[in-house]
Amino acid sequence: METTQNISLQNLHSFGSNEKANYFAIIDSIEAIEKSIQWAKEKNTPYLILGSGTNILFTKTFEGLVLKMEILGIKKLKETASEVFLEVGAGENWHHFVIYCVQKGWGGVENLSLIPGTVGAAPIQNIGAYGVEAKDCIESVTAFDTHTAQFITLQNSECGFGYRTSLFKIEKSRYIISSVQFVLQKQPIFRTDYGAIKEVLHQKNNKQPSVEAISNAVIQIRSEKLPDPKKLGNAGSFFKNPTITKDFFEILIAKFPKMIAYPITDDTYKIAAGWLIEACGWKGIQKGNVGCYEKQSLVIVHYNNGPGIEIYNFSEEIIQSVLAKFEILLEREVVIY
Ligand code: EPU
Repeated sequence: METTQNISLQNLHSFGSNEKANYFAIIDSIEAIEKSIQWAKEKNTPYLILGSGTNILFTKTFEGLVLKMEILGIKKLKETASEVFLEVGAGENWHHFVIYCVQKGWGGVENLSLIPGTVGAAPIQNIGAYGVEAKDCIESVTAFDTHTAQFITLQNSECGFGYRTSLFKIEKSRYIISSVQFVLQKQPIFRTDYGAIKEVLHQKNNKQPSVEAISNAVIQIRSEKLPDPKKLGNAGSFFKNPTITKDFFEILIAKFPKMIAYPITDDTYKIAAGWLIEACGWKGIQKGNVGCYEKQSLVIVHYNNGPGIEIYNFSEEIIQSVLAKFEILLEREVVIY
């Protein structure tokens, strides 16, 4: 295993702040996972797996080994009259995988077009957009369990999937995902309920939606609303949409009738965190090197070459102002190191 010492992480994550790591290595095979963990254990040093670093914020030097996941490959496992089963390497780019499926006309992941990141990162926070989550088409996940030093395959029901969470996020560092198995549909049921998708399909006069038309609509919506991390440092939504009780929702909606919220269960509501942040006056505000994105308040952007801690402090100011105005404690979606 080849390790580099004292490297800059700047080009390895989408906020682009210039923190460092003590050690760095690339993982491009199953064997490399075992060797790297062995190496870290022998040196008694912490490790961290990076995909394309699009949901992470470094606030200081990582005193340990950063491992960049580059296991590639898309393999067809089996095909039936209605479904296709694929195994995809954890290091594959998520959007490339989506486009691969779209081009074949296989449905399931088209609503998740243009989400930055890798396939191996998708189950960790159960990425989601426009009414679909990764868990909806994941069959199983294969990972190296560092507690037992064995590879295991967890079925969907064993992965603890929830809104932007999973077993892999809760048990941080325990599992190193090597591949994800997906099930795709040959006669897909299209999910076009999300307002903006309906609108774009309507504008384009697409009466018979297809996997491709939905993917293109999502690409258009995301490109218009979310900053491209290649051009402006960001990690997508910085916070999660909070869930509150129905009783509390009723108190808040009486005070703030324009607040955007959706019922989740009989007694819980999900609140649009972007609306809360905008209502606190943050939309488009820049302080130093950091800002709240002008088109979507849930996104924190890094304009210049500031340190990660400045981004973190800015997010803390947002949290405190939302807490003061609404008594809601926002949780970060982005993983902080
Ligand atoms: N809104 C505002 N002001 C804002 C932002 C949003 O009023 O500054 C309102 C919108 O008008 C809308 C509601 O809040 O009525 C929800 O906004 P949007 O549809 O943009 O979605 P979101 O809840 O802000 C979530 C995901 C996104 C995903 C979109 C679309 C989370 C944390 N974020 O955002 O995911 O693309 O839905 O499904 O759940 C990501 O995780 O990185 C991400 C971009």
